[in-house]
Amino acid sequence: MASTTHDVFAKVRGHERAEQLRAAREADLLPYFRTLDGPAGPVVEMEGAERIMLGSNNYLGLTGDERVIQGAQDALTQYGTGLTGSRLLNGTIGLHLELEREIADWMGTEEALVCSTGAQANLTALGTLLEPGDTVVADSGDHASILDGCILSRAKLRAFRHNRMDRLERALEKARADEGGILVVVDGVFSMEGEIAPLPQIADLCGRYGARLMVDEAHGAGVLGARGAGAAELLGIEDRTDLRMGTFSKSLASCGGFLAGSHDVIDYLRVQSRAFLFTAAGVPAAVGAALAALRIIRSADGPPLLARVLDNAAYLHAGLKEHGFKVVEHDGDHMTPIVPVIVGDDWKAVLLWRALYDAGVFVNVAIHPAVPPGGALLRTSVMATHDLPTLDRALDAFAAVKASFEAEHGPLPS
Ligand SMILES: Cc1ncc(COP(=O)(O)O)c(C=O)c1O
Repeated sequence: MASTTHDVFAKVRGHERAEQLRAAREADLLPYFRTLDGPAGPVVEMEGAERIMLGSNNYLGLTGDERVIQGAQDALTQYGTGLTGSRLLNGTIGLHLELEREIADWMGTEEALVCSTGAQANLTALGTLLEPGDTVVADSGDHASILDGCILSRAKLRAFRHNRMDRLERALEKARADEGGILVVVDGVFSMEGEIAPLPQIADLCGRYGARLMVDEAHGAGVLGARGAGAAELLGIEDRTDLRMGTFSKSLASCGGFLAGSHDVIDYLRVQSRAFLFTAAGVPAAVGAALAALRIIRSADGPPLLARVLDNAAYLHAGLKEHGFKVVEHDGDHMTPIVPVIVGDDWKAVLLWRALYDAGVFVNVAIHPAVPPGGALLRTSVMATHDLPTLDRALDAFAAVKASFEAEHGPLPS
């Protein structure tokens, strides 16, 4: 029992979302924390029924690949279930080092550092390289772990409106007047909307204002560019990107993260970053799986997988549009595996999610604060391993759900 007059736990009752959460739970409308009953494939068993999986980041479908499973099993057999300590003290195994060498080679950087998650990689880089007196300039749509890294660093944070280059330039003008070092950090591919950042313009502005550039390639690595190295490769600005971050929890079919950059920067992070030093190393099975997945991506089997996931995205995008849905459009011709359907209203998005779920299709729902207020989306995403008949079945379900939804609730955005 707390003895003070103000209980720190008081906030857990009656908070802003409590009522929404209670109502959604009572009506079994909560789209979050749903449980999978089997492997994360293109069609999954979920809560007792088969559902087409359009809500996974397993973009290349490699979590079910026998070579990746073998990589995890071999590592598990050789090193056991866990490493029970940090990379610094007792948690580094040969597989971490092998993976770091292969990531650096893949990214075309001098070195790489393997972390236990992608979020930790962002905290490692931003929380260590930035310090009070520096300015970090971040897109307002950047991932939460980027924002957390910026806050951790206590550098001055200047956010600019999502993908608006005039706002970035204004933030850089102000940053220059701050008189410290400047880092610009953006998602290469934005996780909810699936758009690719205008990296060439961003790199130009960084050059003009003397800023370093960091790109989060969580959704780009293993998907974009001829080598699958991400948005910086696709848009031809690898040599102007100072630091790249990625995750193993999407195309690399595992769990973990990485940073890739110059020897000096990576070595500094290796010994200076509290976020890296004071947590347990990624478990052997996760590292073994990521290494096996990376080898597939870099083999002759990689490019067809990369092409297939983007073709599937284009197919779903066109199909949803044909059925009258408002789908996020991307600048230029570049597709990503993320195909978001704009709904607008939070409750409508949740009701549509439930109707799709009952019709055998699982998608993700993004409501505020994951997206701006009034910008609720159904975030669909495809895998290289979806076949067209499965995507057609999903599109039929979307069409049927739309017809009955609009009959009851009025038109959806088109
Ligand atoms: C853009 C972006 N950055 C970082 C992360 C964090 O990666 P991880 O899931 O490996 O912690 C994610 C994952 O959700 C992401 O979407």
